[in-house]
Amino acid sequence: MYKTLFNLVFRKMDPEKAHHLAFFWIRLAASVPGLGVLVRLVLAPRDRALRTTALGLDLPGPFGLAAGFDKDGIGIDGLSMLGFDFVEIGTVTGEPQSGNPAPRLFRLVEDRALINRMGFNNQGSARVAARLAARPHTTSTPVIGVNIGKTKVVEEADAVADYVKSTERLARHADYLVVNVSSPNTPGLRNLQAVSHLGPLLHEVRKAADRSTSHHVPLLVKIAPDLADEDVDAVADLAVELGLDGIIATNTTIGRGGLRAPAAQVEAIGMGGLSGAPLKERSLEVLKRLRARTEGRLTIVSVGGIETAEDAWQRIIAGADLVQGYSAFIYEGPFWMRRVHRGLSARLRAGGFRTLAEAVGSAKES
Ligand SMILES: Cc1cc2nc3c(=O)[nH]c(=O)nc-3n(C[C@H](O)[C@H](O)[C@H](O)COP(=O)(O)O)c2cc1C
Repeated sequence: MYKTLFNLVFRKMDPEKAHHLAFFWIRLAASVPGLGVLVRLVLAPRDRALRTTALGLDLPGPFGLAAGFDKDGIGIDGLSMLGFDFVEIGTVTGEPQSGNPAPRLFRLVEDRALINRMGFNNQGSARVAARLAARPHTTSTPVIGVNIGKTKVVEEADAVADYVKSTERLARHADYLVVNVSSPNTPGLRNLQAVSHLGPLLHEVRKAADRSTSHHVPLLVKIAPDLADEDVDAVADLAVELGLDGIIATNTTIGRGGLRAPAAQVEAIGMGGLSGAPLKERSLEVLKRLRARTEGRLTIVSVGGIETAEDAWQRIIAGADLVQGYSAFIYEGPFWMRRVHRGLSARLRAGGFRTLAEAVGSAKES
């Protein structure tokens, strides 16, 4: 049914407009008394065996929505209603910004991929913090991750202060905090992945988070798939050394290899980060590398090209404590999370695992 809706309606629309329309419907459904409960009943039933604890947080399952879909935290309850086990909002920057000029989001349907150069369009840390502060605390509140990045106009030399500002405003409202240094759409941002820059940045963000809250807010760093293997290792070592809680791998790629879409179409789209199916292989490779390097000392969140329950399962048995997706949500629609949950549950049982945690990293033992 969604495939028909996608082909008849969304596919004919500008991708960013389609995003806004779909997100509006999701928020509307969640706000109608009774309807939200009904949708949740249909889309978000979960096997208790999928329950897991990661980053010190209890989650109904391991499958979350990756950053970028809800940059301002305006639709968290709607997204949780659809079955995501946790929702990562952002990227939020220190100051509000409108992002790059449109068009800035493109579909490569035959590749089940997207290219975006949104450029962190968001309302800024003060407004998003106020929105999160106003949220009522209910038992159905999902785990909320807050992903932070650098304001475009802030010089690279002042980046730390910008991240610290966001941290001071947002940390107390976040179940976990992510330092994003891997988006290709903010000039210079990915240079911050170099250990010489990343060390001081993460150290200051950690200090700022501790100053702002009385409890420990888990801190993660999100990395690009385009890092060389030695750099993936270096970030992993740094994360362990700094006592970080986890790593999210990966963001979008600037690569364009192996696409089915005609080269001229891809070239006409221009700059931006590629996500979806073409990321699958590298994202899994980075996960395996991180797992081998950190040996369970960090929580690893795997993201990039996850489309099916089998994809999610392969990440889990390769060592991902949690998984996330974004692009496949666009192509698969609102029943996607239910399908993934069902498939994960079946695989857990078929493998004889009593809990999800038992399955994490189990591939290397077999
Ligand atoms: C339109 C779009 C916007 C995104 N915006 C962000 C962002 O603001 N911050 C971030 O860390 N990642 C962002 N991402 C990257 C995703 O969180 C994810 O890492 C990436 O898309 C790979 O996952 P996927 O293949 O399941 O889409 C964005 C992705 C897309 C498609």
